[in-house]
Amino acid sequence: MARKLWLDTDPGFDDWMAWALLEADPQFHLLGVSVVAGNAPLPVTLANALAIRALHGFTTPVFAGCARPLAQPQSTAQDVLGAHGMRSTGPLLPPASHGLSAGHGVQALVDAVRAHPGQVTLLAVGPLTNVATAFALAPELPQLLQALVIMGGSTVGGNATAAAEFNIHADPEAAARVFDSGIPVAMFGLNACRQLAVGDGHVQQLRTLRGEAARIFTGYFDGYVDLARVRGRAAQALYDPTPVVWLARPELFTLQPGRVEIELGGRYTRGMTVCDLRPPARARANAQVALQAQGRPALEWVMERLLALLART
Ligand code: BDR
Ligand code: CA
Repeated sequence: MARKLWLDTDPGFDDWMAWALLEADPQFHLLGVSVVAGNAPLPVTLANALAIRALHGFTTPVFAGCARPLAQPQSTAQDVLGAHGMRSTGPLLPPASHGLSAGHGVQALVDAVRAHPGQVTLLAVGPLTNVATAFALAPELPQLLQALVIMGGSTVGGNATAAAEFNIHADPEAAARVFDSGIPVAMFGLNACRQLAVGDGHVQQLRTLRGEAARIFTGYFDGYVDLARVRGRAAQALYDPTPVVWLARPELFTLQPGRVEIELGGRYTRGMTVCDLRPPARARANAQVALQAQGRPALEWVMERLLALLART
C-alpha cells in the first residue's frame, strides 16, 4: 500500500521538485498540500503552488496556510530568489486562477491526520508555522502522525545567517515548538542536503525532453542551478527533495539520534539548530539528524523520477 503523506511547503523551486517527486512515485499517496509563507509572502507561494499544480495536472488538494510567523516579523528569501521566490532562465510558469481548496491549510492538515491515525507522514519543507499552529490547535496531533520529516536546520552553520538555516530563521518560535512536541523530528539540514547537488549535466538531461511543461520546468531548474553559478560554484544543493529521497531510499542515508534545540535568543545565533549528537548517553534525543547521504545514487533516483514525470505531463 502507498505511504500516506502530507506536504507543507513554501514554493520555491526546490519545493516544486520535492512535490513533483512525491507525485511521480507510486509508493507515495499525497493527501494534501498546505502552503505557508517563506521563500516569499503567502500570496506568492500560494500562486506558485496553484501554477505548479495546474502545469502538471496534479489533483492533490492545495490549501492556504499561515501568512505570518508566530512571533517575529516576516522575512523572505526574495533577496536571493527574486520577487516570485523562484527564478527561471526560460518561459515563466503560467498563473492558475483555480485549484485552491476551501478552508485553512492548518485545519485541513489536522483533519487529514485525524482521519488516518498513525498513518500519515508529515513532510515540511518550509518555515514550520503551519505545523506548530496545527500542534497548538490539536495537541494530540504529534502522537497521531506516523512520522514528521523536515528540511531545515543544519549541523554546520547557516545560510540565512552565519548560524541559521532559512526555514528555521524564518520562524524560530514555530521550530522550537515542533522540536519540543514529543514526536522525533527527522531533520534534513543543510549539511545533509548539500551532499545532493545539481549542475549543468542535470540541466542537459532535462533539455532532452519535449513539451511545454518540460520546457518551463527546465527553465526554473536552470535558474536554480544559476544560484550557484553566480557565486562561482558548479553545483547547487537540492534542499527540499532530499528528505523525499530518504523516504523512498532510506538505505542511502545515515541518521543519528540527536537533541536539537532552537536558539531563540542569541545576538548572532537566533534561529540556529544547536545539535547535540551525544544521545542517549548525555542527552535525550528529540530528533533523528541526517548526517551522510550517498549523493550519486540519490541524484539518479531524483532525475529518473523527474524525467518520467515530465515525459508524461
Ligand atoms: C530552504 O530554504 C528555502 O529557500 C528552500 O526552499 C529550502 O526549503 C533551504 O535553506
Ligand atoms: Ca522550501
